[in-house]
Amino acid sequence: MEAQIAALGNGVWRIRFGTPERFTPNALRERQPAWEFIERLPQGCELPFDLNEVSCSVRPSRTVVRIPCDEPEGNIYGFGLDPRVFDQKGLRKWLSVSAQVVEQTGASHGPVPFYISTQGYGVYVDTARVPFVHVARLSAKSSAKEGSRERQGRQGASEEELYAGRAAQGRPQVVFDLPGNSSGVDVFLFAGPTLREAVQRYNLFSGGGCLPPMWGLGQKYRTHSNADEEEVLQLARSFRDREVPCDIFGLEPGWQTHAYSCSLAWSSERFPDHRAMTRKLDDMGFRLNLWEHAYIHPTSPLFEPLEERSGDYLVWGGLVVDFADPEASQIFADYHEEYLVDQGVAAFKADECDRQQLTDVTPFNYPYCSAFPSGIDGDQMTQLYGYLYQKSIYSVFKKRDARTWGDVRATTGLAAPLPFCLYSDAYTFDEYLRQLVNASFTGLLWSPEVRQARSQGELLNRIGMAGLAPQMCLNIWFMPHPVWEQYEPAKNKAHELLPDDEQRFLVDRIRDIVDLRMSLLPYLYSCFYRYYAEGLPPVRALVLEFPEDPEVRAIDDQYMFGDLLMAAPLVGSVEEREVYFPEGCDWIDYRTRLCYGGGTRHRVKTRPGDVPLFVKANALLPVA
Ligand code: GAL
Repeated sequence: MEAQIAALGNGVWRIRFGTPERFTPNALRERQPAWEFIERLPQGCELPFDLNEVSCSVRPSRTVVRIPCDEPEGNIYGFGLDPRVFDQKGLRKWLSVSAQVVEQTGASHGPVPFYISTQGYGVYVDTARVPFVHVARLSAKSSAKEGSRERQGRQGASEEELYAGRAAQGRPQVVFDLPGNSSGVDVFLFAGPTLREAVQRYNLFSGGGCLPPMWGLGQKYRTHSNADEEEVLQLARSFRDREVPCDIFGLEPGWQTHAYSCSLAWSSERFPDHRAMTRKLDDMGFRLNLWEHAYIHPTSPLFEPLEERSGDYLVWGGLVVDFADPEASQIFADYHEEYLVDQGVAAFKADECDRQQLTDVTPFNYPYCSAFPSGIDGDQMTQLYGYLYQKSIYSVFKKRDARTWGDVRATTGLAAPLPFCLYSDAYTFDEYLRQLVNASFTGLLWSPEVRQARSQGELLNRIGMAGLAPQMCLNIWFMPHPVWEQYEPAKNKAHELLPDDEQRFLVDRIRDIVDLRMSLLPYLYSCFYRYYAEGLPPVRALVLEFPEDPEVRAIDDQYMFGDLLMAAPLVGSVEEREVYFPEGCDWIDYRTRLCYGGGTRHRVKTRPGDVPLFVKANALLPVA
C-alpha cells in the first residue's frame, strides 16, 4: 500500500496508509499538538531506519503495519500500563482495555499503541481497534537471506548454539495487526536522539502533559462506600484535629440514590444537606471528589436525554453513553456542570470504564459487537470509553477556566493532557511499582492507591510509595474504619480495631509521610509544569533519565520523582533493599545524607514507610 509521508514538525513524521478511520485518539484528541514546545527539543534528529521501510497492507478484515526493528542490542518499552513486563521486546501484545491483568499480554487499564526503543525513537499507531502487536519477533519472508552474518545459520555443536537458531532471523519487525480496520491508518514517528526526547515529542504531540491544581497533589482520602454526611464530616474533622494533611475527600458509590448503574443524583437519605456538607468541607480546606461511572440508571435524570444516544446493550441495567457523539458528551457534561460542579464538586472518579475479562461472569460490559448511534464500533468504544469520558468531564472545568484532578480506570493513546490518574482493583505490590514506572513511557499517570495490608510494615511501605507518586490516594472504600484503625479487611469489617497506641503510632507515621510529600509539593508542581511544557513526565523510569547507562535498562523498581530525586520503594513489609545508583552523578541519601557514587549498587536499610530517597549531588532541591 502506498505511503504518504509528511514531516509534521521538529522530529515528528506521519505516514498515512489509505484512509484513517473516523474514530481514533488523534481524530478525537483533547488538545492540538504543542508544536511551539516541540520546536525547542533537539533539532535535526533522524530515525535509525528509512521511513520508506515502514509498510502496511489494508485488507477487508484487517490492517497490518510493519515497522523495522533490526536492533539486536536494543530494548523496547511502552505499550501502556503493563503491570507485569518492562522490556517488551520479543513479546506478543494484545493491547486491550482490561480491568484485570492477563499475563504479559498488554491488557491493562491503559493500553497504548506507542513504543520507544533504546535506539532513540518512538512509534505511535493511531488506532482505537484492539491491536495485536508482535514486538520484534517476526521477520518478513523477503528478508530470509538478510540480517547480520552471526544470525545466519552457522550452527555450533552445543545445545545452546543449536537452539540459538530459533531466535528471530532475517530482519525483525514490529508488526501491528489491527482487526476490523479495513480502510487505513496513520503512523506517527518521533525522533530522539534518545528515548527520553522521543517520549517528550510524543507527549507534546499529544498536546503536552496535564497541569493539576496544587490541591490535587496533596493527599486524597476516599471514604467507605456507605458513609453518610455525618461520618464524612467527622472523619474530615479528625484529619484536621490530628494534623494529618489531606486536601481531597472522595465519596464512593453511596452518595447516589442508585450506584450500579448510576443515577448521578444525591441520596437525600444519607446526604440530607449535601450543599451544606460541601461548604463545610470547603471551609476545612477539602475539595470534594465524587465516584461514578458512565452507565446510566433508568431513574437518573440523564436517562431520557441519553436514551437515543447510547449503545444497544445495557451495563448493570444502565445506558452506555455514546461519547463518540458530541451531543451525548455535551449532555453528560452539562448535567455534571449544573447539578454537581456548580454545587461545589471539584473532581470525579470515573470508574468502571474498562472491560471485564472473559473469565469474569458478572454482567459488566457491553460486547465488542455493540452498536452505537454515532457509528463507532463496540471494540473502538471499549478502547475509547475512558478517554472520551475524561474529555467530557474535563470540558466542564475547561469551560470555567478551572482545573480538576480526577481518577479514571481506563485510557489510551494521546492522553497526556487529561488531568486524571489511573488506578486499579488489582493490588499486587510489585506490579503497582512497575506500573508507576511503565506509565512514564506513554503519557499516563498511575496512582498506587492504598486500601489494606497484611502487616503494619506493608501498610507503611504502601503509603510511603503512594506519597512519592503523581497522586497520593488512600482508598478505604470497602472498610468501615480508617486504615490506621485496622488495616486487615476482615477485622476492620468486624470492628476489631488495633490497640490505641498502635493507632496513634500509625497516625504519626502517616503524618510523617504526608508531611514529606507536602514539603515536596512546590517541587512536584514544577515537575508537572515540565510535563506540560516539555513533555517530560513527573515520575519516570531511570532509562528515560540515564539513557547512556546500560545498567538501568532492566530497572523497573526504582524511578525518578521529578528531576532531582530518585526513589527506590520497599515492596512488602521489608526494611531494606538493593539500590542501583545510576552513572553520571553522586547520590545523597535524603534522610541520612550518606553519599553513594554513581554506577554502584548498595544495600540500603531504612524503616517501613521511609522510601529510600536520593538526591542528585549538587542539586538545589526546594523544600517547603
Ligand atoms: C470499584 C473501584 C473501587 C471502588 C469500588 C466501589 O470498581 O475500582 O476503587 O470505587 O468500585 O464500588
